[in-house]
Amino acid sequence: MSLARAVRKPSVASRPAAKPAVRPAVPVPAAPPPAPPAPPPPAPAAATPAEIEFWDFRYRTNRTPWDAGRAPVGLLQWIERNPPRRRHILIPGCGRGHEIFSFSGAGWNTTAIDMSPAAIEKVKRRANRALAKQIYCGDFFTHPFNTPQFDVIYQRVFLNALPPARWPDFVARVAALLKPGGVLLGSFLFADRGTEPPHGLAEGEDRRLFESRFMLVEEAPVTDSVPAFEGRERWQVWQKR
Ligand SMILES: C[S@@+](CC[C@H](N)C(=O)[O-])C[C@H]1O[C@@H](n2cnc3c(N)ncnc32)[C@H](O)[C@@H]1O
Repeated sequence: MSLARAVRKPSVASRPAAKPAVRPAVPVPAAPPPAPPAPPPPAPAAATPAEIEFWDFRYRTNRTPWDAGRAPVGLLQWIERNPPRRRHILIPGCGRGHEIFSFSGAGWNTTAIDMSPAAIEKVKRRANRALAKQIYCGDFFTHPFNTPQFDVIYQRVFLNALPPARWPDFVARVAALLKPGGVLLGSFLFADRGTEPPHGLAEGEDRRLFESRFMLVEEAPVTDSVPAFEGRERWQVWQKR
């Protein structure tokens, strides 16, 4: 007999029936409940009544040394180089809003906002009915704009009017309100911080603030500053990445 035959296992039929395995009852752990959705990012803080009064008092009493009474030359040149083609522009912290009329006169669909009722009342008086509907008295950080996203946001010394602790909120809000590839343009003040606005940017601080979300695509000294800002203002254009 061959070795293979000698060790052949008995056929299944002849094998004794296997005993059913007795397994201890292991409780099946219940599936963990689904993780709760991540909380939304904290809503930006709204301006306080004291902050509103700080600016409104100055407009009511005509103590507005930052107001040039006209749009800056750098902006007028930019408008000339950039035909609107039905694009939307937002002007936050517009104050008396001279630039509103430069943009809308050139055909831009223009929206503006300032939290000073006195400033906005004066601007609205100069605007026609359609334009006045897009000029808001409110807080740039919390206002629900009709246009969800803009092609351009223009600011003049608005960033510098905010407490520096709010500058990252400004960058985030501008990035959220701009379409991809949209631009933030205007003049920024480089000077000492000071205890009261305007708070100057330090050298390089603009890049540290903006560069994760924006690319600097234009920069030039401002040549027609009001005396209070002379030699300290820069025209900049930041493109959203
Ligand atoms: C230095 S002024 C500049 C005004 C204007 N851009 C100009 O060039 O004349 C700053 C402006 O920002 C406005 N402002 C400050 N905080 C604001 C906010 N959170 N929302 C809207 N406007 C604000 C003030 O009322 C004030 O008119």
